[in-house]
Amino acid sequence: MTSNVPSEYANLSNKTPENTGPEPSRRFCVAPMMDWTTPHYRYLARLLSRHTLLYTEMVTTGALIHGDTDRFLRHNSAEYPLALQLGGSDARELAHCSRLAEEFGFSEVNLNVGCPSDRVQNNMIGACLMGHPDKVAEGIRAMIEATRLPVTVKHRIGINGRESWDELCEFIEKVAAAGCRTFIVHARIAILEGLSPKENRDVPPLKYDWAYRLKQTYPHLEIIINGGIKTFEECHQHLEYTDGVMLGREAYHNPWLLAGVDSEFFGNEPPVASRHEALRSMYPFIQSELDRGVFLGHISRHLLGLFHGMPGGRQFRRYISENAHKPGAGLEVIQAALAKVQEQEEPVQTEAATSAVSQP
Ligand SMILES: Cc1cc2nc3c(=O)[nH]c(=O)nc-3n(C[C@H](O)[C@H](O)[C@H](O)COP(=O)(O)O)c2cc1C
Repeated sequence: MTSNVPSEYANLSNKTPENTGPEPSRRFCVAPMMDWTTPHYRYLARLLSRHTLLYTEMVTTGALIHGDTDRFLRHNSAEYPLALQLGGSDARELAHCSRLAEEFGFSEVNLNVGCPSDRVQNNMIGACLMGHPDKVAEGIRAMIEATRLPVTVKHRIGINGRESWDELCEFIEKVAAAGCRTFIVHARIAILEGLSPKENRDVPPLKYDWAYRLKQTYPHLEIIINGGIKTFEECHQHLEYTDGVMLGREAYHNPWLLAGVDSEFFGNEPPVASRHEALRSMYPFIQSELDRGVFLGHISRHLLGLFHGMPGGRQFRRYISENAHKPGAGLEVIQAALAKVQEQEEPVQTEAATSAVSQP
């Protein structure tokens, strides 16, 4: 098979020992988030936690097949373990894109059955597929046949008009029969008409007990719970009933939370001692991105949450926001912003510390 991986990615995204090992742990995951879990955010997240499983933003099969494949799949091997999330429903296209995921070195390929936006619904992508379990099963079967990577599904517990427990079980059973053994459950329904995607992440009530019940009913399946989780204490509670937790918004707005994950959930030393150290170790990467023409603002917007809740954190944010967009802005903007926050020895976040942090 000829490789689609261009040579410039030789050190970036080809298979490496890091991602050819056993299946990644999904005990603690950061959710796929469009415009948020970009390579720049993920690089920071990986500096803070070695074990957290990271997900890309959703990429549609259409974009991968007809668009700039290399750009959409670009990532850094430092980000592993890293799952590629696909949006699509055509079995052949999903199979093709799963092969690409493997070639480009991802650790897992995930199908989005949870996004409620109108744009994707029109293309039979995302949450509307909860109403078409046979189609999802067909796609999953094709993906599993096409790749050796683990194939997983991220879904809702229902959609309006199809929100009964039995319908959820029908979905799970059909997709499991196609070979999928990992289900990431955003524990609320999606309402396909009348709510924006943002409202669809807050308005329909969370029903964690449905995710717990899925694990009870199908103990052989891996069930990862998602939706509204903010603290380690909550994570531990969920882990009593499910196999893993996935955090989205909290992990983005308060990335330092991730610095406690390796010790709290994997029994390992935290990889960094302070937020300053984490940011400083990102400098060579930031510089290499600037050198290839990336605009500082595209990188720095994902760093704004790093000093969330800390003295000087607001000045850090403000300095970056006011200066990163200026023509020619470079690493010195980040360095000057960092100088606004006093460096201190800081234990990684504990339950007590994280539970005090809330989202803006
Ligand atoms: C800005 C943003 C973009 C998102 N994009 C995606 C996406 O591309 N694919 C997906 O499956 N979910 C997406 N989501 C949903 C999250 O993955 C997650 O399911 C949701 O935010 C609930 O988890 P949380 O309460 O921990 O944030 C997005 C969420 C946000 C806030």
